[in-house]
Amino acid sequence: MDFKWTRKDLLSLYDLSREEIECILDTAQEFKKVSERKVKKVPALRGKTVVNFFVEPSTRTRISFELAEQRLSADIINVAADVSSLKKGETLLDTVKNIEALQVDLVVLRHSATGAQDFIAKHLKCGVINAGDGAHSHPTQALLDIFTMRERFGSLEGLNVTIVGDILHSRVARSDLWGLTKLGANVTLAGPATLVPEEFNCIPNVRVCHNMKDALEGADVVNMLRIQHERQTSGFFPSTNEYSKYFGLNSGTVKYLRKDAMVMHPGPINRDVEIASEIADGPQSVILQQVTNGLAVRMAVLFLVAECVK
Ligand code: CP
Repeated sequence: MDFKWTRKDLLSLYDLSREEIECILDTAQEFKKVSERKVKKVPALRGKTVVNFFVEPSTRTRISFELAEQRLSADIINVAADVSSLKKGETLLDTVKNIEALQVDLVVLRHSATGAQDFIAKHLKCGVINAGDGAHSHPTQALLDIFTMRERFGSLEGLNVTIVGDILHSRVARSDLWGLTKLGANVTLAGPATLVPEEFNCIPNVRVCHNMKDALEGADVVNMLRIQHERQTSGFFPSTNEYSKYFGLNSGTVKYLRKDAMVMHPGPINRDVEIASEIADGPQSVILQQVTNGLAVRMAVLFLVAECVK
């Protein structure tokens, strides 16, 4: 690998070149081997301190960042927003500047405000990793999705990837879209017209469609997304039952999908809404492999950005 990583922050896949994305994926491949060993720990981040600051709920991302930091031998501090001084009116910037004043090397931040990580990264010397901001960006989720596809298909060049669901409110959809198209995949965005704006049709190698037959036929991969009720401001479809019938992956729609197509979901799943339980737990599903790969991807990201923190 000749490419040299130079960023102290990972904020969005929109900012990254193809070479940078491939550098993370190649590094993750090496770290995946570490997790498969009997002794799973390496000293790569020994002496570095990482703060995990999750101002929004998380299971997968928070746990896998913490485990990745442990596997890399970092010192870790977890800050819970509801018992931090954010509750007393301290600004996010003041909070993270105080964290940095304790000679912390990296801050992993999840926040409901779009751009929160970009904003603090401009003011901090320590590294900032985006663990999800509003409906904007979730780079490590997209990287683990792409890593999982690359493991199966070898290359993403010409791969047909369909993303179904609440595209309008999904940071995963945006991040997948940026990463996948940079690596040469064709992306179909599917769902009701209220949740999948036609504007996405203007992006090269991206198409929008509003029926599952069209969305699933010819797909190598389908990524089913949850309805982001917490980010919706009004009714975008008449009922959950109707959404599930027409845009869920279920016995009525799975017939359009090839038997060898890969079924993904970033989690958390709303079982039997966007995906039927028997498909989520079935042979085409790689949902738990995605979680496993998230650990290797986060180890890679932590390792690469930590090297660039002065
Ligand atoms: N996919 C994902 O980000 O899950 P969590 O919200 O549980 O971290």
